[in-house]
Amino acid sequence: MLELVRLVKKGAEASVYFASWFGEPAIAKVRFPKAYRHEKLDRRIRVSRTSSEAKFIREAREAGVPTPLIYFVDLKNTAIVMQYVDGPRLKDVLSPDTVGLCREVGRLLARLHAHGIVHNDPTTSNFILHKGRLVMVDFGLSIHSERLEDRAVDLHLLKEALAGGHSDIAPKAFSEALSGYSEVLGEGAKASVVRRVADIERRGRYA
Ligand SMILES: Nc1ncnc2c1ncn2[C@@H]1O[C@H](COP(=O)(O)OP(=O)(O)O)[C@@H](O)[C@H]1O
Ligand SMILES: [Mg+2]
Repeated sequence: MLELVRLVKKGAEASVYFASWFGEPAIAKVRFPKAYRHEKLDRRIRVSRTSSEAKFIREAREAGVPTPLIYFVDLKNTAIVMQYVDGPRLKDVLSPDTVGLCREVGRLLARLHAHGIVHNDPTTSNFILHKGRLVMVDFGLSIHSERLEDRAVDLHLLKEALAGGHSDIAPKAFSEALSGYSEVLGEGAKASVVRRVADIERRGRYA
């Protein structure tokens, strides 16, 4: 039985609630209908994004990336009920003293990439620090891909998030992430992805 307790975040795509699932603290991520979309199409989009996100949350865990346990996928109400991960967001704890956490961010992204998954929204709001470990959330935009370009976009988005939210430590934080990335995928993979990130930045500047 699900009970919504309070709204945590209302995003463009979904509303996230702190909830109770048979008495267990839980998170319910609900995609509500969008009035501006045709009803049938809207339903198809919500069902497909809900099931896709739940699938990626599971797949990521199988790839060795900590993610919340999925308790229930409610396709009728297009909701995912998952384990509540207790702890602060990386965004709220990242400082010169904790910049080493970004090494783990890089390792987790590399593990996803090694398993053919690209997260596509690796901001510091989407990592929760739980008992000293980072847990990754928000797989709503994730895709299956082995392409260098898609992997580089993941790292580019991380770099942008660090520059935007943590400008004082951003270069150090990103270089920690790259060290973690190369620990998992090797120096060669890291060098290729860094070159491609630079390409993406050049294209951004002259576009
Ligand atoms: N399983 C979870 N446990 C604890 N907090 C969560 C969980 N899932 C999401 N959150 C919190 O809710 C916020 C929004 O969830 P998220 O899936 O990132 O939705 P959005 O797509 O709107 O960004 C996260 O940044 C995190 O703070
Ligand atoms: Mg998010």
